[in-house]
Amino acid sequence: MDKLIEAAQLAQNNAHAPYSKYKVGAAVLTADDTIISGCNVESSSYGLTCCAERAALYSAISNGHNKFKALAVITKDGGTPCGACRQVIWDLCGNILIFIADGDGNVAETTSTNLLPNAFDDSSLK
Ligand code: THU
Repeated sequence: MDKLIEAAQLAQNNAHAPYSKYKVGAAVLTADDTIISGCNVESSSYGLTCCAERAALYSAISNGHNKFKALAVITKDGGTPCGACRQVIWDLCGNILIFIADGDGNVAETTSTNLLPNAFDDSSLK
């Protein structure tokens, strides 16, 4: 998973976070072992900000990928995905591995089910 975390770290450098100064990078590993990354992109209209996890996933979907094996996210302090991202990760990925890295080289491993137990999903919409 080193390559996935490295990709997230590279994306973190591209974060557009002039308001919070909190830079986030993320990367997803697709079923065919492609790595696609994203960073947080903030707006002066704060609510329009897109988190790194969703930027990575939306980019992957935009490039034709729709099956995922793992996602890595990196921040300076090992922050975990926000609630909105947990929902989107569950919707698009189901239960996958999630690596949460910090700026000191620490990596915690969890799953999307752990992050969002008893999730709402499309099974309620059929
Ligand atoms: N942020 C992410 O990119 N991912 C998360 O899961 C949590 C928050 C970003 C949004 C905003 O640009 C900054 O971190 C502070 O909230």
